[in-house]
Amino acid sequence: MASSAFFEETVRFANDHDICTVHDFAYGAISFDGVKHPSFMQTKGAKENGIEIYTLSKTYNMAGWRVGFAVGNRSVIKHLNVLQDHQYVSLFGAVQRAATTALTSSQAGVTELQQMYEKRRNVLVQEAKRIGWAQQAPKGSFFAWFKVPNGMSETEFATQLLHEAHVAVAPGNGFGEHGRGYVRIGLVNDETKIKEAMSRIQALNLF
Ligand SMILES: Cc1ncc(COP(=O)(O)O)c(C=O)c1O
Repeated sequence: MASSAFFEETVRFANDHDICTVHDFAYGAISFDGVKHPSFMQTKGAKENGIEIYTLSKTYNMAGWRVGFAVGNRSVIKHLNVLQDHQYVSLFGAVQRAATTALTSSQAGVTELQQMYEKRRNVLVQEAKRIGWAQQAPKGSFFAWFKVPNGMSETEFATQLLHEAHVAVAPGNGFGEHGRGYVRIGLVNDETKIKEAMSRIQALNLF
């Protein structure tokens, strides 16, 4: 979870060097433990150079619908609009209507979704503890980043889980340098499957 202090530092750096910051707020609605993700736009000075982009994919389970929005610096938004017009033509009317309905109706479904991921997160972290794979609980999104056991590469570990436990995780190195030493676990299955996956991983006796 990005903190307000991190955003303040980012704004300072971006404004000092006249850099446009693009904050991808895809998981803005999915945060846990009663804490809300701050929006980059809440940061003083953010609009001098920055924008925030949002997708309906996660919050409203509308992945693949290709609908989202951008807010922030007037000049950047103006240019984005020109690019959007020429590169993507326009969004199918029914999708626009569905997006309007999602954004303007009761947000109870969003709370339900957030609670569902939080429950899964809790089960995952409890199970990891149970099998000796203690990890920090993620504070949001539907992913958890777990450390690879000592002496193994991310790819080796992910491959072993896939072939021997039949559990799929994403090796962190695929996400760049900071993903090294980690695997990414998706909270995309229910609690029963998460428990089953962790028991299979336990049976490999890696921890
Ligand atoms: C951090 C992040 N940003 C953006 C996206 C893409 O969203 P969309 O489905 O609107 O392309 C994803 C989806 O995987 C994501 O994880």
